[in-house]
Amino acid sequence: MFDVKGKKAIITGGAQGLGFSLVKAFHNEGVEIAVIDISHEILNIAEKIGNDGSTIHAVKGDLLHIESLRESFKKALEHLGGTVDILINSAGLIERKPAFEFSLESWNRILGLNVTSVFELSRLAAIEMKKQGSGKIMNMGSILSVLGGFHAAAYSTSKGAILQMTKSLSNEWACYGIQVNAIAPGYMLTTMNNDLVNDVERRVQVDARIPAKRWGTPEDVVGPALFLASSASDYVTGTLIPVDGGVLGR
Ligand SMILES: NC(=O)c1ccc[n+]([C@@H]2O[C@H](COP(=O)([O-])OP(=O)(O)OC[C@H]3O[C@@H](n4cnc5c(N)ncnc54)[C@H](O)[C@@H]3O)[C@@H](O)[C@H]2O)c1
Repeated sequence: MFDVKGKKAIITGGAQGLGFSLVKAFHNEGVEIAVIDISHEILNIAEKIGNDGSTIHAVKGDLLHIESLRESFKKALEHLGGTVDILINSAGLIERKPAFEFSLESWNRILGLNVTSVFELSRLAAIEMKKQGSGKIMNMGSILSVLGGFHAAAYSTSKGAILQMTKSLSNEWACYGIQVNAIAPGYMLTTMNNDLVNDVERRVQVDARIPAKRWGTPEDVVGPALFLASSASDYVTGTLIPVDGGVLGR
């Protein structure tokens, strides 16, 4: 039921963090993957995971620029032989700053990657998935899809939009056998949170808010992602699954 062996996936933001952990886990489950990332590190991803490059394909591309996004998607699809079963939109950006000091340039960058690129990639993937009558699209939301956050206005706006986009696209595409869902990680130990982790005062505040009494690890998102990628979730669509050690339930 949870078997994803032989499926083909495109995963964005897979050079590090949650995306990397998903690439590793899905590879171990027998999924062929094309990984899109802007980082140079992406070029070593197959080697890093111990694959000879036959079932993990690296596509270096900037998802903030529409031509590069479309070219990256085209290359990813070519690597996978022209079909895609699973799309995981994990690439994302945050900038923590008071709203008074926030530049519009940063605002547009964050909304551009966290929202616009997710919409366009989902649309391109769904066009292919509709042809085969099935597909799984997974977006990385956040606890800030629901909470307002602090000093992260652009980020929480973008993740709130992910929640609505997930529902909206699910409404349109469920009838084609395409499930669109989101995962809402809480406080996870990735480089995205280095500044929080290193800020002793904030770290103590965050620690106190997590009922599980620990931060999440990149491996914590693997189980829910495999569920959402497998036929076990064929009647689950348009929803947000928190992976947050209980933060949203407080
Ligand atoms: N880490 C957390 O605590 C946390 C919490 C909630 C949600 N999330 C979400 O989960 C996702 C992954 O987060 P993470 O912690 O792994 O982040 P990360 O910063 O570790 O990794 C993000 C990846 O996205 C890539 N990327 C950045 N800009 C890009 C661009 N323009 N084009 C292509 N790739 C680009 C980076 O190179 C990197 O590999 C993000 O969407 C994030 O918002 C993370």
